[in-house]
Amino acid sequence: MALPNYAFFNGRIVPYGEAKVGVLTHGLNYGTGVFGGIRAYWNSDLQQLFIFRPHDHFRRFLESTKLLRMEFAYSETDLTKALIELLRTENFKTDCYIRPLAFYSDELIGVRLHDLTPALAIVALPFGKYVEKDEGSHVTFSSWRRVDDNMVPARGKITGSYINSAFAKTDAQRAGFDEAIMLNLDGHICEGSAENIFIMRNGVVMTPSITDNILEGITRQTVMTLLRDKLGLTVVERSIDRSEVYLAQEMFFTGTGAQITAVTRVDYRAVGSGQLGPITKKLREVFFDTVRGREEKYKHWCVPVHENALRL
Ligand SMILES: Cc1ncc(COP(=O)(O)O)c(C=O)c1O
Repeated sequence: MALPNYAFFNGRIVPYGEAKVGVLTHGLNYGTGVFGGIRAYWNSDLQQLFIFRPHDHFRRFLESTKLLRMEFAYSETDLTKALIELLRTENFKTDCYIRPLAFYSDELIGVRLHDLTPALAIVALPFGKYVEKDEGSHVTFSSWRRVDDNMVPARGKITGSYINSAFAKTDAQRAGFDEAIMLNLDGHICEGSAENIFIMRNGVVMTPSITDNILEGITRQTVMTLLRDKLGLTVVERSIDRSEVYLAQEMFFTGTGAQITAVTRVDYRAVGSGQLGPITKKLREVFFDTVRGREEKYKHWCVPVHENALRL
């Protein structure tokens, strides 16, 4: 993977090589950091790079920092402005992935969340697919349970808690699957290692509710809106049993990385026909038009980066 040229680091844009930390850094030793994942999509007709829902991503990011008792003077608008400046400096004219990161930067020994100094960085790099088989992936139920809200809140995108996702993902892939579905301590469906999950049964789309130890996904929100407004479907947020997954007619993951990834097999069982289903296919089309700024109704979600783009 090619590294970024620049980073927004401690309030200014610096060459990427200058955005460095020491090995004793608190966030590195104890996982006391939070991060985000944002995409920017290149629209070649308009010669414009659109950042998708940056304010919503930065709002969630700042909420995660609050969970870890970090205090920053930045608002989501300040961070969006910093990101636009970074993307202009990088001069990207292609799809990108953006990684905001906040972490305790103190170099000391001691597990805690108080009397520490937070630091903030944003980097961006050209990026394509996160999940290779996004039109038909084969998933399994992980034997690793999702972290509970009273352990490490999944609602916060906390760096240290991603070891939970990493266990699930690696074990699934080493067993020949593309991704893992994680369950709650009570056995209900949670999410993938870095994706929210949706199933469709008898014409109703369902997704676990936000009190089921999931990340409150921005793509999840986007997809619920598109399914209701553009596809006219009923979407229900509720706890989902494992056996409902085996009986689903369609299933897909959502996430900034995964975008809309169809799940066509679970534990060697076909989901519906075992092929990309009609609802998932239509949703993917509407989603990609939306994120590239081609859906008039949702243009407010797409924040332009370049000043000199074509205006149609
Ligand atoms: C655990 C987890 N769930 C869900 C998601 C999807 O969230 P979003 O759509 O905001 O990217 C992600 C990725 O960011 C994630 O890491």
